[in-house]
Amino acid sequence: SEPADIVAAVLDQLRSACRNGNGPSRGRLAGKKAIVTSGPTHEALDPVRYIANRSSGRQGHAIAAALAAEGAETVLISGPTVLADPLGVTVNKVGSAVDMMAACRDAIPADIAVCAAAVADWRAADPVSEKIKKNGKPPHFDLVENPDILASLSQAGDSRPALVVGFAAETGAVVEKAQAKRARKGCDWIIANDVSPGTDTFGGITNTVHMVDGKTVENWPTMTKEQVGTQLAGRIADHFE
Ligand code: C5P
Repeated sequence: SEPADIVAAVLDQLRSACRNGNGPSRGRLAGKKAIVTSGPTHEALDPVRYIANRSSGRQGHAIAAALAAEGAETVLISGPTVLADPLGVTVNKVGSAVDMMAACRDAIPADIAVCAAAVADWRAADPVSEKIKKNGKPPHFDLVENPDILASLSQAGDSRPALVVGFAAETGAVVEKAQAKRARKGCDWIIANDVSPGTDTFGGITNTVHMVDGKTVENWPTMTKEQVGTQLAGRIADHFE
């Protein structure tokens, strides 16, 4: 990261902390509980190797910080990242998708769920308990699909959070794919972003997103992930007002 970006991120956190200085009883989301998932998941192959992806967690962490700054009681359920815990947020660190799903189940009921994690789609069916040795015969792994946390929270019946927001990282026809994903998973809003080659979204500082609900599509200008978090938290607060 550039020093200026680091300074900007620290300033954003300080501003959030100041806004949050009166405690969660103040702010437009006071009295509301939010769950945010963030980061990648790690799916063990053996005790030292895993399947993962390039998610940094920066967007999910920024959303959690911004929801807390709006006064929500916020639980951040984070896969492995190098990021500092956002101020004013309860952080629950998990490794795998199965663990993330269990942590989300433990965290509901909630009013708001934002699923920003890049959950691994698959895990090894039978992770090996001892380190696999190299012996000239590469190992073979059967993969099984991971639970879909966003779909599961969206379809949780009586325990469904009132507002469920998902993300969609797509290459090409981003908005159309996001609309289809919103309907398929049963969430309320999808924040869609283009991760085509040449964009700097995965692991980067900025994000260019489209907010898709059942009726409209809003194209947001390119912003830092902190700014996307602040704007999204503001829209969530508008929704509850
Ligand atoms: O299906 P896809 O991975 O494209 O969907 C992306 C959205 O679904 C994101 O909001 C992500 O956090 C969520 N998701 C999830 N659990 C999964 C896969 C995706 O919560 N197993």
